[in-house]
Parts: sequence; structure tokens; C-alpha cells
Amino acid sequence: MTHREQLDDLAAAGRLRSLSPRAGADFSSNDYLGLANSPRLREAVLDALLGGVAIGSGGSRLLRGNDPEHERLEAEAAAFFASESALYLSSGFTANETLFATLPQRGDLVVHDALIHASAHEGLRCGRAERVSAAHNDVDAFADAIRQWRSGGGKGRAWIATESLFSMDGDMAPLDGLAALADEQDAFMLIDEAHAVGVFGPEGRGLAAQLDGRENVVVLRTCGKALGVEGALLCLPRLLRDFLVNRGRGFIFSTAPSPLMARAVGEALRILVEEPERRAALQERVRLAAQVLGEVGVPATGTQIIPVIVGEDARAMRVAGMLQAAGFDVRGIRPPTVPAGSARLRVSVTLNASEAQIHGLGEALQAAMRAA
Ligand SMILES: Cc1ncc(COP(=O)(O)O)c(C=O)c1O
Repeated sequence: MTHREQLDDLAAAGRLRSLSPRAGADFSSNDYLGLANSPRLREAVLDALLGGVAIGSGGSRLLRGNDPEHERLEAEAAAFFASESALYLSSGFTANETLFATLPQRGDLVVHDALIHASAHEGLRCGRAERVSAAHNDVDAFADAIRQWRSGGGKGRAWIATESLFSMDGDMAPLDGLAALADEQDAFMLIDEAHAVGVFGPEGRGLAAQLDGRENVVVLRTCGKALGVEGALLCLPRLLRDFLVNRGRGFIFSTAPSPLMARAVGEALRILVEEPERRAALQERVRLAAQVLGEVGVPATGTQIIPVIVGEDARAMRVAGMLQAAGFDVRGIRPPTVPAGSARLRVSVTLNASEAQIHGLGEALQAAMRAA
């Protein structure tokens, strides 16, 4: 099929995507703590710039691109998250892709949650390990998959992969159960904390904070969501960091992230410690949003991500369009990003939307659901 025909097919199925300008109250970004435009991050970047920190790294980390800012950030992140080492990559997508493609070896098995992010799937496609999907958040399904593989002659290492807070459902993984399973099966864990870091855990260190530092745990923390910057930190045992530096194609064959952004991420980590009131204020707004949306029949998740499941693709987009017209930036999410028949609005609660706007969203949603 030609490109034109494929786009026409998407349009006919109501799934054509397009870019639209940013408008309305923020209920769709991942800038949970409102740091992306914060004066403190701006100042940190400005200071760094005026102090001579380079804008571009100029090359791969293994060539000329290894800037002291990267190394400083990684040392700071390893200490903050209590992991043996850290590695800063240019995006969470690249980090996941690199991780999944590189660490599990031929003869290994990766058991991943059915709802894991597209970037993990990309990595798995390029990797050499076998892979199997386990029912969402079902520890027994993970255990069964590993046991079945072992009884079929699987001799390598098992890897257990999950998000700690799911990006489209807003629910949390049973990390304790999965960690116990990993210990029992001598398995490794790959935990994607993209939506939990900065929001949950002691000092915003995430839901997997208590697992950091174990020799069988790798944690991905993206820096473009609650941390308000960009890039991603892999927190992992030094051996696995060395392996990625030597074998991770997304690390080796890519220009290192901007040293300025590395400086900004370091500042964001300090903000997590020094401004706990941001997390507390977010939790207040999450409680309010749960209550307001609950009055419209939307189940609470207990987190800042609240899906409003609509079902049919076109209706989800109609409801989203009505909310946008009313001044609320809520986006419709359709398959294949979410399973067929579960098109939804992904309401994201951030400090960028006021309490009054949360109340307004509840009213607008009720009206839109009736009209659509
Ligand atoms: C769970 C999860 N992992 C990884 C990523 C990719 O991170 P980044 O946006 O930094 O590329 C995302 C982004 O949407 C995500 O939601």
C-alpha cells in the first residue's frame, strides 16, 4: 500500500493523527509538578548558559560528546536514587528501546506486562530474547509464564518488565509481588518509572525507590514528565551500565544529550527534595479531580492519571473536541495506543491546572458526555 492509501485508510477508520497547537487548561501534559516553565529551572539553565555550559554535546558519549555535566548528573542521580550507577540518555523512548534490545540475551525470556509502553516493544523487536506478554498487573500470570518456559527447557535468565504507574490507565503495578517473584526465579526486573518519578515515593524517588540498588533491578526514570526537562536516567548496577556503554546501540550511535539539559535535570532532582510542597499540592489536586470526576461516574485511580473510558473511537474524539472547545486541553487516545474498544480521554492532573479549572472540567465533561 502506498503512503497515501495508508493515510486514507487511517482517516476512514477515524484514526488519522495530526498536530494541533497547545490551547486550553492543561489536562493533557505530563508536566505533573509544573516544573517545565518554573522560574527555578529557567534560572538554572540561564546560569549554566552564562557560565559556559555547552548547548550541544557535539558527539556521542564515547567520542567527544562526554561532557562533565553528564557525569555530574549521573553521579548525583545514582546517589539520589541509591542505585549503583546511572546513565543519562536523550529520551525515555531511546532508553527503553536500548535497554530492551541490549540487556536480555539470546536464550533469555522477557515477560512483560500486556500494557507496557511502545518503546519497550520497539526494543524487544530488536533484541534476541524470547518474549511473552503477561495479563496486566497479574503476578500469577508472570509466574506461570516463567514456569512454563522453564518446563519447556528455558535455561537462560528471566526478565520481568513493567511500568510502575501505567501511562494510559493510571494504575500501579504490584511491584512487591513482582520483586518477590524475581527473587524466587533469579530473574531481573526492568521497571519503567516514567509517570511515578517525582510524584510518588520518598522525596519523589518513585514507586520503585525501595528496589533501587539491588543487583537484579534496572529502573528507567524519564526526565521529560514530572521533572520538567527531557531525557531519561537509567539507574542500574554498574556491570549493566558498562554493558550498555559497550553494546547499547541507542547509546553508542547517538549524539549525547545537551549538557544544558543535564544541568537542568540535576536542578529538577534538587527541587524534588527542596520543594516537597509541589508534591503535596499535586496530591490535593488529584484528590479534587477524583472527587469531581467521580461525580460524573469516572472511577478514581488514586493517581494523577485518570482515564475516562469512552469505548468507541469516534465518540472519544467528539467528547475530547467538545472539551477542547470549552477551553480544556483533554486529548482523546485511540487504539493502537490503547486496546481496541477502549478509546478514552486521558485526564492528566498537573499543577498547571487550577482547582477552579478542575471543577470546570467536571461540568464540561458531564455536558460533553451527554451531547456526544
Ligand atoms: C511509560 C513510558 N515510558 C517511556 C516513555 C518515553 O519517554 P520519553 O517521552 O522521554 O521518550 C513514555 C512516554 O510517553 C512513557 O509513557
